[in-house]
Amino acid sequence: MKRDDATTLPPSITTDRPAGRGASATADVAVVTHAARLRGAVNVPGDKSISHRALILATLAAGRSRIIGAGDGADVRSTAGIMEALGAVVERRTGYGRNVDYVVDSPGGDALRQPATTLDCGNSGTSLRLVAGMLAGLPMTAVLDGDESLRQRPVARIIEPLRSMGATLHGRRDDSLPPLTVVGHTPLKAVEFTTQVPSAQVKSAILLAGLRASGRTTVREAVVTRDHTERMLRARGVGVERVDGPDGGAAWTIEGGVAVQAITERVPGDPSAAAFWLVAGAIHPDAEITLPDVGVNPTRRAVIDILRAMGADIDERTTVPDDGVGEPRADLTVRSSELRGIDIGPAAVAAAIDEIPVLCLAASQASGITTIRGAGELRHKESDRIGGIAAGLAALAADLTVEGDDITIRGATTLRGSATDSRDDHRLAMTFAVAALTATGQTSIRRPLAAAISYPGFFEDLERVRA
Ligand code: S3P
Repeated sequence: MKRDDATTLPPSITTDRPAGRGASATADVAVVTHAARLRGAVNVPGDKSISHRALILATLAAGRSRIIGAGDGADVRSTAGIMEALGAVVERRTGYGRNVDYVVDSPGGDALRQPATTLDCGNSGTSLRLVAGMLAGLPMTAVLDGDESLRQRPVARIIEPLRSMGATLHGRRDDSLPPLTVVGHTPLKAVEFTTQVPSAQVKSAILLAGLRASGRTTVREAVVTRDHTERMLRARGVGVERVDGPDGGAAWTIEGGVAVQAITERVPGDPSAAAFWLVAGAIHPDAEITLPDVGVNPTRRAVIDILRAMGADIDERTTVPDDGVGEPRADLTVRSSELRGIDIGPAAVAAAIDEIPVLCLAASQASGITTIRGAGELRHKESDRIGGIAAGLAALAADLTVEGDDITIRGATTLRGSATDSRDDHRLAMTFAVAALTATGQTSIRRPLAAAISYPGFFEDLERVRA
């Protein structure tokens, strides 16, 4: 896993390193103690999904693009590295807080260069799937690979639609796993494709390939997933139409052969990062936390609405309204709440796919029963998140059962500080750290620095809100 050398835990968090390792810049175990109260404002990182897309679209556009307030997690850095390998000049500048501003000068999609080495996606499934779609129609051959976790992420879901467009792709183990080779020398044709699993990564890969196909490419999804690619293409002069389907689905159509324009993108705060503080504030008995400038795109805000349905006290003050092209934003404030259990069905799971682990924690602190149904996709993330969350929350004495793809959580239980393991998964590391704030005594989190995949500085923010 690619990590910034500067990524450390704040001195106030005790670390516990196995004997013989000495003082390294990274800690193997973080120990987080119960917090008496939580207060303050947290500037969450720039949205990871939007930051990836902004770098990719800046590379497809000829000229100078600017990206203001990109998240600086390891995943986004992986995409930035890939864009450089393809011939874009990517300059990093210090941005607000821990974010970065990028200036990208690109010769444009047609003039990108054949990469000299394997393109390293690190831990980032989004880099893998989106770049595969981007390269499918370009005149070059590239190999996409990454860390041990990435090598277990399914790729048949993108190989199939991209092949139907005429692209040539190969994966390991019967085309099911990375490394993924993209041979982009053949012209692409527009197709109509219905996604089998709700996945914005798959949809985006098809739309990015559709940019270079002759004719109109249509992607249908039974559940509408995050629509950042669609909005960002529109903002760059590419027509993307949405037709609503029955029962909450939609079809997205893109016209091929239209040039992507270079623009300036301002990235909102990441709602998936904000989710940790929303849950921390809602479940802690003495909390008030403000999260300025968070993205509240209708396809990303499910975690806010689910927490409210559970009884969370969340104030939302719109700062940028939704115009269908840019990203709506709001300042959020969460206060200590009395939560109650609810039913979270498959459509809600898809809408809050990255927030389900921390919502399991919220459910353990809610009275009554919470059911999370149809969560099988969580097994195909950076780790098997169903197994990882069940093990970690059970260690903290939460009452949680897993049957097939369904999770049942009975609350409210008093969490008892204990040993947990992130399994090198950022969302699990942060969920267990938030749990530690309400649990009794001390909670240890093995492999805590996985948090830096999406949220560098998470543990500093954690120590600040408890002060
Ligand atoms: C993402 C989409 C989701 C999400 C991931 C980021 C994106 O994956 O889990 O963290 O930026 O498109 P899937 O669309 O594959 O579910």
